[in-house]
Amino acid sequence: MSATRQLCASCGGERPETDPHPRCPDCGGLLEIRHPPPAAGGGGSALRALFDARWGVRRGPLASGVWRYTEAVLPTAGEHILSYPEGNTPLVASAPVAAWAEARGLLLKHEGQNPTGSFKDRGMTVGVTQARRVRARAVACASTGNTGAALAAYAALAGLPALVLVPKGQVALGKLAQALAYGARTLLVRGNFDQCLELADAASARLGVYLLNSVNPFRLEGQKTIVLETLQQLAWEPPDWIVVPAGNLGNTAAFGKALVEAREWGIIDRLPRLAAIQADGAAPFALSFREGFARRHRVEPHTVATAINIGHPASYDRAARAIRDTEGVVTTVSDAEILEAKAVVDGAGIGCEPASAAAVAGVRRLVREGTIGAGTRVVAILTGHVLKDPGIVTHYHQELEPPPARANRPVEIDPRLEDVERVMNA
Ligand code: F0G
Repeated sequence: MSATRQLCASCGGERPETDPHPRCPDCGGLLEIRHPPPAAGGGGSALRALFDARWGVRRGPLASGVWRYTEAVLPTAGEHILSYPEGNTPLVASAPVAAWAEARGLLLKHEGQNPTGSFKDRGMTVGVTQARRVRARAVACASTGNTGAALAAYAALAGLPALVLVPKGQVALGKLAQALAYGARTLLVRGNFDQCLELADAASARLGVYLLNSVNPFRLEGQKTIVLETLQQLAWEPPDWIVVPAGNLGNTAAFGKALVEAREWGIIDRLPRLAAIQADGAAPFALSFREGFARRHRVEPHTVATAINIGHPASYDRAARAIRDTEGVVTTVSDAEILEAKAVVDGAGIGCEPASAAAVAGVRRLVREGTIGAGTRVVAILTGHVLKDPGIVTHYHQELEPPPARANRPVEIDPRLEDVERVMNA
């Protein structure tokens, strides 16, 4: 009964949903999944009721914060579904973070609370499910770390061999540790992420391995559920803004698609605006935005937020459409702002990795510029867990000279009560 198809965004070619090519085999363009409008007679309110009825399901695929929205994700996945489960991440209010960002109505969607500690699990459950449907014999990705960690875990859950290509020396410790621990064949490439992706693309074609980077459209279908779950947590009352860190642009693209579909299907009646935040040193998308998306840029990337240290984002076209469709904006923040925002989020007891903090720094930047009203409802996406990048935490708190204002220097003492007293009274 399914009429779900894959459509090439470049040449318009159509193929069935079980076609295993990760890109259009005719023109190399990016594919997009098109679902039939979910037939829950009664439109948007019936769909909302269906999703609400599943909230709190404890076992099986519907316990997942991805597969709860199966009609919007992959209606025909059936018995192939491979779920940890994932999703069901909290939407957190934090007074200190809101005060720092100067945005009273700020909420944080903590995607670091996924099984492998980042939002990538939402895309990977769908990607590996699809790999099983097309009978892939192995799966592969290039990664700045989180995709590799998620791929390694989900491939292991599925019993599939995994290949992960990462830029040597540019991956946070926690992420590299995960890829190794979950048993992926891990290649440390002497190059940057963009080169890893080109290599993964070519190698997967040559070796017949299923490519699970976010060029793969099934990944994006899973990542749409970050938005759907957020809307559901807000009782389907859309926020004014959704703010997301942007690197390879898969998430920005997925968010735009989720929102446009949600409106088409009557789940919401107005679109929040999207804000995509890049680091100053890795901002090709922001450059294009400033020129009205007149052309695509490639840069040599340099930022402390290694997750988004990307100079030639793969999902450029579809992310540009997401920004246009939602009257969105793209802006940048400095590494210093990222580290300060991270110290605030961490110090509030919430914690996130540097790339995630870019979203919070971006909120402050956009409020100060007057783009985001101080009293509006804003959701910032914390994309990864604080423990992903322990190196940067140690560096910030223990090593940076002079110590930043928020540095929490540990104090070394002898095993004597007086020493404890002295430190506590200082
Ligand atoms: N935040 C984190 C923690 C990430 O790991 C990524 C991307 C992003 C934000 C940006 O999302 O690429 O969809 O624009 N990480 C990818 C990886 C590139 O390989 O793990 P994006």
